[in-house]
Amino acid sequence: MIAPELSLVLVGFGHVGRRLVRLLTEVADRLDFEWRVVGVATRHHGTVLNPAGVDVERAAALVEANQSLDRLDPEPGERSGLDLLRQASSLLADDAAEGRLVCVESTVLDIERGEPAITHVRAALEAQMHVVTVNKGPAAFAYDELESLADAVDRVFFFEGAVMDGVPVFNLVRETMPAVRVEGFRGVINTTSNFILSALERGQSFDLAVREMQGRGIAEADPSLDIDGWDAAAKTAALVNVLMGGRITPHDVARTGIAGVRTADLREAIAHGRRVRLVASAGRRGAELIARVEPEMLAPGDPLAELADTENALYLRTDLLGEVGIVQRESTLTQTAYAVLSDLSRISLRLRDWTGR
Ligand SMILES: NC(=O)c1ccc[n+]([C@@H]2O[C@H](COP(=O)([O-])OP(=O)(O)OC[C@H]3O[C@@H](n4cnc5c(N)ncnc54)[C@H](OP(=O)(O)O)[C@@H]3O)[C@@H](O)[C@H]2O)c1
Repeated sequence: MIAPELSLVLVGFGHVGRRLVRLLTEVADRLDFEWRVVGVATRHHGTVLNPAGVDVERAAALVEANQSLDRLDPEPGERSGLDLLRQASSLLADDAAEGRLVCVESTVLDIERGEPAITHVRAALEAQMHVVTVNKGPAAFAYDELESLADAVDRVFFFEGAVMDGVPVFNLVRETMPAVRVEGFRGVINTTSNFILSALERGQSFDLAVREMQGRGIAEADPSLDIDGWDAAAKTAALVNVLMGGRITPHDVARTGIAGVRTADLREAIAHGRRVRLVASAGRRGAELIARVEPEMLAPGDPLAELADTENALYLRTDLLGEVGIVQRESTLTQTAYAVLSDLSRISLRLRDWTGR
């Protein structure tokens, strides 16, 4: 069987983008597709477009040395991510027409409107590219529109890495739970805040815990998005929209972050066998969808109470399967990059189905 070759246009080449290209190289012999990167866009580190293939290790090294990618470009020029997508789709028109051109979107989360990620996803789909994103913005703010557009142009809009990294959440439900209705969910889905709460319990400082998460590339570029509950609210909105048919944005999620949680509160909770965790939840009240993110005092025996450091878990309430739990014991950049890998693999499967190879 011939493995399809995917041409990747990376919009965003930060922690996740760089870990992705290295992971794809490390496990190349296990992949069911071939790949090459044909373009990379950043905001402050230039862009490169080369249909013959970009040297990704050199590109990663340049960004890590805070230098510009322009020097790798055969015809360097000032371009935005949007410009790069348009130029790539015109230079690689055959790949686009054959469904082998893929936009991998990993720009930073903008909690006001989900931009520029939504514009990137829309433009890529309109240019006949498949889209894989780890950004929560598109599914949290514009899922319906983008999914309909993807259907209309016969391309895919995948975002497994937007919630709980590479552990399948969206794909699990959409691929393996036909006819099941998700009535609600409850989970700990923001790694940085869970790590901070665990550090405070150990008597460590809030600031040190934030720096540790920044050092590992896990905290959001602006860590207040994690601390104030916005990241969890964006994930909650994405889950509600995709799994429960909602039409909400992160601004519709009732939200309290962890800034007000004091070490004394955590110690007091532990003294009574309890734990405080930042819990994201959603449910239906009649026709209404209720979603919230807030620190909760959890009773002993609550599975969310056991989650420490970088552990995450999500419990879905379903009508046909009862409660289904997904637990992630480790959350590193490898797991996030794996989410993209798994979405690329699904595109490759689809290409095989198309061509009957
Ligand atoms: N890190 C994680 O553990 C994790 C886990 C799950 C999901 N995510 C999501 O993945 C995304 C990326 O995370 P990250 O950790 O890789 O962030 P990051 O290290 O800050 O990288 C973001 C990248 O996007 C680029 N960028 C920003 N705005 C752009 C624009 N308008 N056009 C083109 N490029 C732009 C940045 O360029 P410059 O550096 O030149 O500014 C950088 O290359 C975020 O949406 C995050 O929420 C991250």
